[in-house]
Amino acid sequence: MKKLNLGRMAYGCWRLTEPNESSVQHRIHTALDMGFKLIDTADIYGFTDPERGVMINGADPDGFGGAEALLGDCIARDPALRDRMILATKGGIRPPLPYDSSQHYLTQALEASLKRLRTNYVDLYQIHRPDLLTDYAALAETLDGFVIAGKVRALGVSNFTPHQIRALSAHLKTPLLSHQPEISLWATESFEDGTLDICAELGLTPLAWSPLGSGALFRTPDTKQMKAVQEALDDCAVRHDATLSQIALAFLLAHPSGIIPIIGTQTPTRIKEAGSALEIKLSREDWYALYIARRGEPMP
Ligand SMILES: NC(=O)c1ccc[n+]([C@@H]2O[C@H](COP(=O)([O-])OP(=O)(O)OC[C@H]3O[C@@H](n4cnc5c(N)ncnc54)[C@H](OP(=O)(O)O)[C@@H]3O)[C@@H](O)[C@H]2O)c1
Repeated sequence: MKKLNLGRMAYGCWRLTEPNESSVQHRIHTALDMGFKLIDTADIYGFTDPERGVMINGADPDGFGGAEALLGDCIARDPALRDRMILATKGGIRPPLPYDSSQHYLTQALEASLKRLRTNYVDLYQIHRPDLLTDYAALAETLDGFVIAGKVRALGVSNFTPHQIRALSAHLKTPLLSHQPEISLWATESFEDGTLDICAELGLTPLAWSPLGSGALFRTPDTKQMKAVQEALDDCAVRHDATLSQIALAFLLAHPSGIIPIIGTQTPTRIKEAGSALEIKLSREDWYALYIARRGEPMP
């Protein structure tokens, strides 16, 4: 099968259900117009505690499925959008359990996602978090079955350890396309804990969730280390005539593993600002200055 081209930047739908001045349609169009290909969502996005459930047509009363339902609405209103995007969703978080990667659960979870997204297939289906009771051979059979049935074009995982990725890969007939860990100047573990190495070894594209640390990079720093990161970002931003968020994204884009940052802002001007980070090329000196600032001590 031809490998899907995921592009260089993705748009994330985690915050789609939050109140916002701009319409969902506007946000999705802005991302696609900037050249983003991958639109990343999950069945759990929109879920709140049952007391505070947001009422979204097609979602459960507790908000489960809310973000998928909003994106599905957007696609139904403008069907041409479907072909412009690589549509990715995730399943396997099952409140209040917390996780379920059994065949029985995932099969009905995928059906429900397709219904909410108003589509017959998703381009990428990801296991959201590792279910510690996973039988890897059974999970592989379930996922391969989704591909054979034409309901899923490619497979991915999220928040898996390198060992968990290897264990699942050993049983899959459809090789994993992607892995989605948290990666940013706020969360740098993936650079040294084997996560990006297993991606390189098995040919997985790393998709970085919360690439700006959910905004933590811009808040008033509460540690010496975060202050140093902000100063390093500032310094680099001045030299590249760029904004802090663009430098923080360029830091991810510069890594040779081909990290795709999943942009999470709900503000159309910030979606555009993020897209322009593709024009910034950080030098090796820039990259290590930022990394060492976050590390808090020199490399050994
Ligand atoms: N697989 C997983 O377990 C997992 C977990 C979390 C997230 N994700 C994925 O990752 C995507 C992105 O996550 P995220 O929303 O946390 O991403 P992010 O890009 O790190 O953070 C976006 C947040 O930062 C705020 N922000 C503050 N200053 C900003 C600036 N200058 N530029 C841009 N944003 C700024 C945004 O506010 P405004 O909206 O007001 O601009 C928004 O609340 C999600 O949508 C989801 O697809 C996956």
